[in-house]
Amino acid sequence: MNLLDEINKRRTFAIISHPDAGKTTLTEKLLLFGGAIQTAGAVKSNKIKKHATSDFMEIERQRGISVATSVMGFEYNDLKISILDTPGHQDFAEDTFRTLTAADSVIVVIDVAKGVEPQTEKLVKVCRMRKTPVIVFINKLDRDGKDSMTLLDEIEAKLGLNVCPLSWNIGMGPEFKGIYSMYEQKLCLFSPHGKQSEEDVLTITDLNTPILEEQVGNKLAEELREEVDLVSTVYPEFDRDTYLAGDLSPVFFGSALNNFGVKELLECFTQIAPPPLARETDTRVVEPQEEKFTGFVFKIHANIDPRHRDRIAFVRICSGVFERNKYYHHTRQNKKLRFSNPTAFMASKKSVIDFSYPGDIIGLYDSGNFKIGDTLTEGEQMSFKGMPSFSPEQFRYIENANPLKSKQLYKGIDQLMDEGVAQLFTRINNGRRIIGTVGALQYDVIQYRLEHEYGASCRYEPLSLHKACWISSEDQEALKTFKSRQQRLMAEDKEGRDVFLAESAFTLQMLQQQSPEIEFHFTSEF
Ligand code: G4P
Repeated sequence: MNLLDEINKRRTFAIISHPDAGKTTLTEKLLLFGGAIQTAGAVKSNKIKKHATSDFMEIERQRGISVATSVMGFEYNDLKISILDTPGHQDFAEDTFRTLTAADSVIVVIDVAKGVEPQTEKLVKVCRMRKTPVIVFINKLDRDGKDSMTLLDEIEAKLGLNVCPLSWNIGMGPEFKGIYSMYEQKLCLFSPHGKQSEEDVLTITDLNTPILEEQVGNKLAEELREEVDLVSTVYPEFDRDTYLAGDLSPVFFGSALNNFGVKELLECFTQIAPPPLARETDTRVVEPQEEKFTGFVFKIHANIDPRHRDRIAFVRICSGVFERNKYYHHTRQNKKLRFSNPTAFMASKKSVIDFSYPGDIIGLYDSGNFKIGDTLTEGEQMSFKGMPSFSPEQFRYIENANPLKSKQLYKGIDQLMDEGVAQLFTRINNGRRIIGTVGALQYDVIQYRLEHEYGASCRYEPLSLHKACWISSEDQEALKTFKSRQQRLMAEDKEGRDVFLAESAFTLQMLQQQSPEIEFHFTSEF
């Protein structure tokens, strides 16, 4: 098979949702269809327990198994599909943002009763910014929820997506009778507990057929006709190019728990979802069919076995063919590296691979060379974009609690920051180290991991700040003046870049107005 055929065979996507909407359940059903797992519950049991806010053992357990569930691959309709797992917990939102960079498209799961929830709003905003194609799956139709039209209005208003329903629900809750797929012109009848059989799917090209009354009763049949009619006048017709451009989102209805509507979603996904797409670097756009290999690290996992300090770096292949044991160029470190045990992920199995193609995610064993966002090439000096750190909003001083272990502490902090767990800033005026995060859970993770993996111990001291933002200016004199005036609030990030520590939203806004020549950046990629 040539490179182009390999590329066209691949679909790499992420499922996102607010916690509890049904992401894990849907993932599991998709894997069941692909034959990648045999029993329901295989993914579920790996899930971080809900509301595990500071349960260290749970975090640790989760870290162990999430290597296996970070990427789940399966084959379906001759396609090699990879699902990228995204943590639902909001404190890990940065992980999710970075994972989205490695995906070519996204399925958003929405709970029919809860509608659009805050976490979904944030994540879809990132997809919109990047023009990632989005499919919406409205879940839990076996329960009472919002009226479908109202929900679609909410999705358009809150998520800013232009929707185009490709299936429509017939009743919901105890009255749920099934869905009509406008995409395939099929009526799928619902029977609870996932026992949908061939007889439950009827091809109906004309909704005026009396078969509809026979199957779902007079009232729902009439409602369905009216609603489908309305949908076709209110919403645009499906157009794949518009979807691929990120400007139109097909919507499906179903119940993941009952394995209902999932097959229809998967069938449509395999027909419309994009194959591996081009990616931007700081110098140019890289097309997947380019002969030379390129890829980037979007996630790093530490080995949970403390005797082995190595880590797994998850690399998204962007172009060319990756080969085992071949030397590649680590562009940040300007170093040649080769990998003897690159790993591919098929559902929960891992296996060593000899070749990998664009769209694939591979795991590389790493002894400390990588940090999130690193680029590998065959020699070209460039760096893939889209892996920013965000301005943190929670801050604490980190102090060494065991002076005999300071070397271990600093090494530990350094490596955890490379993994993207949090960000480290050093104050200019007194050299104190500050850990900045987007969620409070990270502080527990850092403390626990420093102790268990590095034998170091730390304590935190409170620090009240509003935000940390990177600053830059074309006018070097102005930058120097600003830095010396604000010296008390200046810090450096791990790369030595200038960071301003804003004490309140008000002072930040005031300074922004007073110093027009200074640019304040809220992500590290500027
Ligand atoms: P998440 O990954 O998005 O956080 O959601 P998850 O799949 O874990 O689903 C959250 C809860 O919603 C689970 O129930 C799950 O069984 C349920 N669920 C998922 N899809 C459907 C559906 O189509 N209909 C109904 N009625 N429920 C659904 P739980 O009780 O919290 O967990 P569990 O005890 O079932 O594991």
